[in-house]
Amino acid sequence: MELTKQEQAMLEGREGYAVRKSMEILVALGEIFEAKNLIDVGSVQVSGVSYHNLGDAGLEFLDSLAKDGKVKVLTTLNPAGMDLENWQQLGITAEFAEKQNRVIEAFQRMGILVSCTCTPYLIGNLPLYKEHIAWSESSAVTFANSVLGARTNREGGPSALAAAFVGKTPCYGLHIDENRVPDVQVQIKTELTKLSDWGALGYAIGQKAENQIPYITGIKTAQLDELKSFCASTVTYGTKPLFYIKGITPGADQQVQPKKTITIEAADIKNAYDKINDDTKEIDFVCVGCPHCSIKEIQEIADLIENKKVKTDVELWVATSRTVKQLADKRGYTAVIEAAGGKFACDTCMAVAPLKGRFKALATTSAKGCFYSRHNLMKTKMGSMRECIEAAVSGTWNN
Ligand code: F3S
Repeated sequence: MELTKQEQAMLEGREGYAVRKSMEILVALGEIFEAKNLIDVGSVQVSGVSYHNLGDAGLEFLDSLAKDGKVKVLTTLNPAGMDLENWQQLGITAEFAEKQNRVIEAFQRMGILVSCTCTPYLIGNLPLYKEHIAWSESSAVTFANSVLGARTNREGGPSALAAAFVGKTPCYGLHIDENRVPDVQVQIKTELTKLSDWGALGYAIGQKAENQIPYITGIKTAQLDELKSFCASTVTYGTKPLFYIKGITPGADQQVQPKKTITIEAADIKNAYDKINDDTKEIDFVCVGCPHCSIKEIQEIADLIENKKVKTDVELWVATSRTVKQLADKRGYTAVIEAAGGKFACDTCMAVAPLKGRFKALATTSAKGCFYSRHNLMKTKMGSMRECIEAAVSGTWNN
């Protein structure tokens, strides 16, 4: 890979340890993927924030970089293993909280904005069309590439952090036009009537177009929350982190429709629900906000739960960014949800919090949430926001 004089100097340690280590990571990555050069990035989103996933080795690595490392571009964080302010109410232990706080302090010393969310585009980390970025969380990467038209590979935590310290990333993969060409046309021949249908659609396409870039036709309208749900699902269940929807996402009209075609019909959506849903009636955990809730979703939750009560042996978590929660506070939605017994899970989510063994059965709007909660040994049910709130109130899944 060709380096400029300044990049060579960084590699030789002229800007200190963190930048040298970062250059080593970026050069190694560039050589593996045959990148010709490094390119500037406009922003970074770093995953690998939960102490649950990092462990002590990860914490030590971050501490070593934080000694002299300062990020060069706007950098935000993926969800951590706990709500950074109200971890006690989510049942997190003091030992875990102490380690998680040390992780966050290390990121803070690096100059990173402590905004732990997988929807950074809702809170000010909003890249422009065709802007090169280095993001790591898979749903956010897919949203950035597909809905915003920005350009990013799916970075690992260390390579994203390296990009933040250097302000650059190797130019390969989805940074290059020819690698962003769709492989398969996906004709949608059914109606999507609720949010979770988009998660089911992502499952269905992921299974049929594994490791491909879909060009989707047959969708007339889509809302932001639907697209963010679809982004999380389709990449979790198999596609590359980029898709086009004809007439909806940027750049779709400039692409040639692929000849290879698959169709998605009502039976495929039903099959997705059958595969995602387990055979259970009793629910003890309801978690919505995967990806993190928008203010519109929180408004919907407040409307659905007003004057009701979450059942005593059920927990309802609303996962969102702290910034969106602050907006919910101001608009009165937080008070309504908390009065009903719901809890906010800011800065964290059901996949990265230490939940293994705590709950038996989850209800959620999210196909991705179901995928990860099975790893946490929960049975899963996916449905609309209304169905999830009803499950929180009754403790049963009535569908
Ligand atoms: Fe976000 Fe966690 Fe879901 S990172 S996409 S809320 S699994």
